[in-house]
Amino acid sequence: MLKGKVSIVTAASRGIGAGVASVLAREGSDLVIASRDSARLEKLARELETKYGVSVVPVQADLTKREDVRRIAEAAIRHFGKVDVLAYNTGPPKPGAFMELSEEDWEYGVRLLLMSAVWITRDVLPHMVERRQGRLIYITSSTLKQPIPTLTLSNVIRISLAGLVKTLAYQLGPYNILVNGIMQGYVDTERVREVAAARAQREERRVEDVIKEIEREVPLGRLAKPEEIGELVAFLASDKASYITGSLILIDGGRTLCI
Ligand SMILES: NC(=O)c1ccc[n+]([C@@H]2O[C@H](COP(=O)([O-])OP(=O)(O)OC[C@H]3O[C@@H](n4cnc5c(N)ncnc54)[C@H](OP(=O)(O)O)[C@@H]3O)[C@@H](O)[C@H]2O)c1
Repeated sequence: MLKGKVSIVTAASRGIGAGVASVLAREGSDLVIASRDSARLEKLARELETKYGVSVVPVQADLTKREDVRRIAEAAIRHFGKVDVLAYNTGPPKPGAFMELSEEDWEYGVRLLLMSAVWITRDVLPHMVERRQGRLIYITSSTLKQPIPTLTLSNVIRISLAGLVKTLAYQLGPYNILVNGIMQGYVDTERVREVAAARAQREERRVEDVIKEIEREVPLGRLAKPEEIGELVAFLASDKASYITGSLILIDGGRTLCI
């Protein structure tokens, strides 16, 4: 489905990002994968190359640092000469109620959840505009639809990506650049298991019981696998999604009830 394409996946060393990278590789896309942990990225890159026969370039980059982000698109152009797909994902923000967060937490949150998206979009866009083609896919969260009371930074800052998707889809349609967002619910990653473990400890319960409680909130009765988010990204990146732009797509096993 994506043979001959070049995709960038950010925050890709594990969790959702790694699941997305692995599905795009399986579909034949060459990749640039980025995150802070270069050893983990290197290992994933070699695994995907061996398994799927694509080229994968790892780039060590902290998404909260402008100079690091710049290296991601540069690597794609240097190695492959183009970028077809940006699958933007980022690290999780600090959880907490409003009164628990410092001004530094807010500034870091804005860099992590908003400015990183702005920066990498600025870096890939001139190359997509020049070729009159491209797919921008922003992996966000179902908190855009239904905020989670303890995730203040996620609830407040991520909503701006909905504005980014709608605005860019409008402005970039004439250049044949399609722009969409993904709002995933619970996905089975290390992060979710850590959050469940912390809650279990606080409430003096077993981790498995906390996970079962989360699963009961989902009509499908389970968390998503990271690769299931990857399947949606691969579809949006493919020729099959040629008339989908400006959409924010929920993938949450039916958990979010608002329309
Ligand atoms: N899992 C869920 O249920 C769920 C639901 C809705 C939304 N989300 C959101 O989806 C995103 C991914 O979640 P996840 O569950 O896959 O988390 P995860 O398992 O903790 O993985 C996070 C990824 O982000 C990278 N990362 C973290 N901080 C970074 C930074 N400053 N710069 C570059 N890369 C960074 C990590 O790599 P390095 O450590 O190598 O940098 C890792 O690859 C997060 O924003 C999360 O809040 C998750």
